[in-house]
Amino acid sequence: MIFGATGDLAHRKLFPSLYRLHKKGRLSERFAVLGVARRSLTQEEFRESVKKSISSALGEHAELEDFVSHFYYQSHDVTDSGSYIQLRELANQLDEQYSLEGNRLFYLAMAPEFFGTIGDHLKSDGLTDTTGYKRLVIEKPFGHDFESAQELNTRLRQAFAEEEIYRIDHYLGKAMVQNIQVIRFANALFEPLWNNRYISNIQVTSSETLGVEERGRYYENSGALRDMVQNHMMQMVALLAMEPPIKLNTDEIRSEKVRALRSLRPLEKHEVNDYFVRGQYKEGLINSERVPGYREEPNVDPDSNTETFVAGKLVIDNFRWAGVPFYIRTGKRLGSKSTKIVVQFKDIPMNLYYNTEETLSPNLLVIHIQPEEGITLHLNAKKIGAGMKTTPVKLSSASKSEDRMNTPEAYEKLLYDSMMGDATNFTHWDEVALSWKFVDTISSVWETQKEPSFPNYGAGSDGPRVAEKLLEKDGHYWWPVENLDIDNC
Ligand code: BG6
Repeated sequence: MIFGATGDLAHRKLFPSLYRLHKKGRLSERFAVLGVARRSLTQEEFRESVKKSISSALGEHAELEDFVSHFYYQSHDVTDSGSYIQLRELANQLDEQYSLEGNRLFYLAMAPEFFGTIGDHLKSDGLTDTTGYKRLVIEKPFGHDFESAQELNTRLRQAFAEEEIYRIDHYLGKAMVQNIQVIRFANALFEPLWNNRYISNIQVTSSETLGVEERGRYYENSGALRDMVQNHMMQMVALLAMEPPIKLNTDEIRSEKVRALRSLRPLEKHEVNDYFVRGQYKEGLINSERVPGYREEPNVDPDSNTETFVAGKLVIDNFRWAGVPFYIRTGKRLGSKSTKIVVQFKDIPMNLYYNTEETLSPNLLVIHIQPEEGITLHLNAKKIGAGMKTTPVKLSSASKSEDRMNTPEAYEKLLYDSMMGDATNFTHWDEVALSWKFVDTISSVWETQKEPSFPNYGAGSDGPRVAEKLLEKDGHYWWPVENLDIDNC
């Protein structure tokens, strides 16, 4: 059951992902998709819209008729019991028609203010009384801060147990984010070095060229901190920092991630601006096209104090990581669309090659999350020719384009996992709670301090100067992501 079936997420991601699962034979013939939304649509209109979304996302038409014959629609008022009772009847009927054995997945792909209400009604109007499994898949944002997230969680827990709640963080569905564990735990080369004796710092960058687009209303209350840092960025940090789990099962992995988040040093309010900096884009050029500044975007306050860029330093107080800063940065309207992790190793104790006029480059492990997928190891080697001059060399492994075409899209993978009951790549409540608590201190300071330098970076640039300064204070600098592309290696 997809709540929000006429919305953007359903059309751009969920329908095409379901179709790809169907084509790969990962959905049995016994499935039905019940689209739920306010708009009044006939079954045919809904099926047409599903076909359109699949063709525009995947450019495919084959087998669509058969596929969409599994789709049903109900126009629905999320606050009205009568609507849920009708939905229940329809669900029961489809259950029988397709022999679904009472298995139900409720996907909330809609405005978050209704999450709690829908959860209440699913229970009180009997939709969760089913003989099979019942699971709730829920999109972000999960709350606006710790308090509202806790309130929402308590409410949802009246209808669903923790293990029945699948909180989506679509970064956890990305192939290379899932690969972090494999790189770390399947390579004798890395795990022994993965600590403060050998690693100098870790940098996680997620930059976007897109602006805030039509989402001004949401983004004004969210900013980059809530939109990207609380979830995607902190999840990547947790995966990089966690201890090896005893086993690769959901509970063990989650509990190690929780422990890593628990080791994050909480910030005091007076420290916030020393550890975190913010930016807001002004007009500029993206791909040679002039784009407006954030304050000129629709539904944005012309005097807005909302950040569209965040850079920060996270400190993890445990034996493994004491003294190793984790730097994160993310922003909209930057020069490139790129998500990368750079692990910078410490310099060797003594450089024998100083006299060669070359300074040795530090060893780097670069994990390319998107758009390229792969890893690069930066080493030093001898320059060809006489003498002992050194030169940086790079060993790269990139997914081939045919592999990438078959790589499941994050949503495809996550939908499949939720149907299979595998919650590993979803966020547990404890993770959500810890990341909100961390982020809340930062927002409580930023919301009360108007940033006089806003807007402070041009669209198409690398972000504000304050982000560079943040690392310079520690004697580090950001590795420029565009120079680290696999193609440049
Ligand atoms: C979403 C944010 O969670 O992630 C968006 O709400 C952002 O603002 C998006 O654009 C980025 O995702 P991706 O997969 O394009 O890096």
